[in-house]
Amino acid sequence: MGARPLLNRRLAGMGTTIFAEMSALATATGSINLGQGFPDTDGPEQVREAAVRALREGRGNQYPPGPGIPELRTAIAAHQRRRYGLGLDPDTEVLVTAGATEAIAASLLALLEPGDEVIALEPFYDSYAACIAMAGAVRVPLTLRAPSFRPDLDELRSLITPRTRLLLLNTPHNPTGLVLTPDELTAIAALAVEHDLLVVTDEVYEHLVFDGAHHPIATLPGMRERTVTISSAGKTFSFTGWKVGWVTAAPELVAAVRTAKQYLTYVSAGPFQYAVAEALNLPDAYFDDFRADLRHKRDLLADGLATAGFRVFRPQGTYFITTDITPLGEKDGIAFCRSLPERCGVVAIPNAVFYDDPDAGRPLVRFTFCKRTTVLEEAVERLSRL
Ligand SMILES: Cc1ncc(COP(=O)(O)O)c(C=O)c1O
Repeated sequence: MGARPLLNRRLAGMGTTIFAEMSALATATGSINLGQGFPDTDGPEQVREAAVRALREGRGNQYPPGPGIPELRTAIAAHQRRRYGLGLDPDTEVLVTAGATEAIAASLLALLEPGDEVIALEPFYDSYAACIAMAGAVRVPLTLRAPSFRPDLDELRSLITPRTRLLLLNTPHNPTGLVLTPDELTAIAALAVEHDLLVVTDEVYEHLVFDGAHHPIATLPGMRERTVTISSAGKTFSFTGWKVGWVTAAPELVAAVRTAKQYLTYVSAGPFQYAVAEALNLPDAYFDDFRADLRHKRDLLADGLATAGFRVFRPQGTYFITTDITPLGEKDGIAFCRSLPERCGVVAIPNAVFYDDPDAGRPLVRFTFCKRTTVLEEAVERLSRL
């Protein structure tokens, strides 16, 4: 095949995601997997049954409509109104995607030209870097630094250039657990308006805020027409394998994202769309109980990690805890995570993989707590042997 590498040079060096490597290590060593963020208990029985019913009744077994089934688009719009007071037209301002992952890819491929700069909160979820690269754009990190991980808004201002096209936000933020405050969002929105920037905001953990509340930036003045909001059923309803996500935005933005989306998957997950429509209409008690359960698990794991000698940055949201391994006499999170299954039968993710500059996150390690209480208790016991 000659000397030319097979992999497109935009994706050079991206290799296999760390999640695949660490999940394989968990299986090979029989370790408790606190690496990848997927629950070990499925979501509500009623929602699962809704999917079974749709399958049996032949709803969604053939290509559903490109933008998503009307029932789901209506439920998404109703959810945004009920939770955040955002009025959306389900026909023109909502688009169903194959998980938030496709929503991110379609948004960035649709909205970016080669050479455009994208400012993203670093550490970033790994698909952001890949999608920015596939669009031929340039990522510019706004690094969140321990211990608070709060964004430096003066630094954000200084990163904006005439080539900046888009701000890529994520709140609640994976992996740090940061939840952007109304003041921070207002300041970010003011910069977006002043410099006429687009905002893509990944809000898949919107229902997992333990301290404070979730505020979509799209609700702020001047933001509706420039913001693409992304969310998904995976995290909120504990069905990460269903891959039902969505985009909400002004009609022109949805039309642009839909154009890219239709050539990525065209459509996805027909019967699951009916089930997610039912899930979004669950009473508030479901969302409250889900959050309370995860808050309890956050505290259990955070306390256990602190007792085991980690420096713990207690997250305000998401189901991840970032820790610093320096107090354990360790320096390198990647080496630490590779040795952890052997040492004590637990798998975690090194935060360095979420940084452009690996030094910035070198001693940081992420654990998830979306597991059964007994599993977390066992993990804490194992980690205490460190
Ligand atoms: C910040 C963030 N965005 C998007 C996703 C992916 O969402 P989905 O499974 O709906 O594609 C994840 C999953 O871990 C995530 O943490």
